[in-house]
Amino acid sequence: LPLILAALVVAYLLGSIPTALWVGRRFYGLDVREHGSGNAGATNTFRVLGKKPGSFVLVVDALKGFVAAYFLPQFLVAQGAIPPEHEVYYRLACGVLAVIGHIYPVFAQFRGGKGVATILGMMLGVAPATVAVCLVVFLTVLLLTRYVSLSSMTAGITFAFLQLLPQFRPPQPFLVYVGFILAALLVYTHRANIGRLRAGTESRVPLFGRK
Ligand code: G3P
Repeated sequence: LPLILAALVVAYLLGSIPTALWVGRRFYGLDVREHGSGNAGATNTFRVLGKKPGSFVLVVDALKGFVAAYFLPQFLVAQGAIPPEHEVYYRLACGVLAVIGHIYPVFAQFRGGKGVATILGMMLGVAPATVAVCLVVFLTVLLLTRYVSLSSMTAGITFAFLQLLPQFRPPQPFLVYVGFILAALLVYTHRANIGRLRAGTESRVPLFGRK
């Protein structure tokens, strides 16, 4: 039991690493939460600091979710702390805790990101085929609208609904519930974006030279 608790705490702490904040402070001397959308995530890092730091934040924030959901439960099984047939539950638990850590990081006054990159990483470890479909949905909405927020929410909601289809559902109990909980969480973390989308003031990404 102590090992299981330790793994859950590590998952939360891992998610809590405020990549966008630290990259901004360390290399650019600014807090990304005071610029752009005010979000400590990959999108706002792209927006405020540029492609290189933005890509770095995206990869690290996704890795947090992937490591939590993929390696921590494997470690628990290897240590004999949980039986192999329980690994699937711990993947979801550790992944969700990393996402919570990313949104409410203990290392950054509980003001983190919106969870998109970390959910992406977590789900790559849990349901990669579904993630592939959601990435196509994300890119399609992004190309059509140039709103990252709308693309993220659409992809998250798609993920949840895909879990209802038998061909997308590996025998993973609870994944469908977790999918809907995370989709609802994404809508919640994007509530300010939704307000801006409705008001027509949400910022668009410059694609193909279109500002
Ligand atoms: O990365 C989260 C994205 O969906 C929205 O970010 O900075 O445009 O609020 P942002």
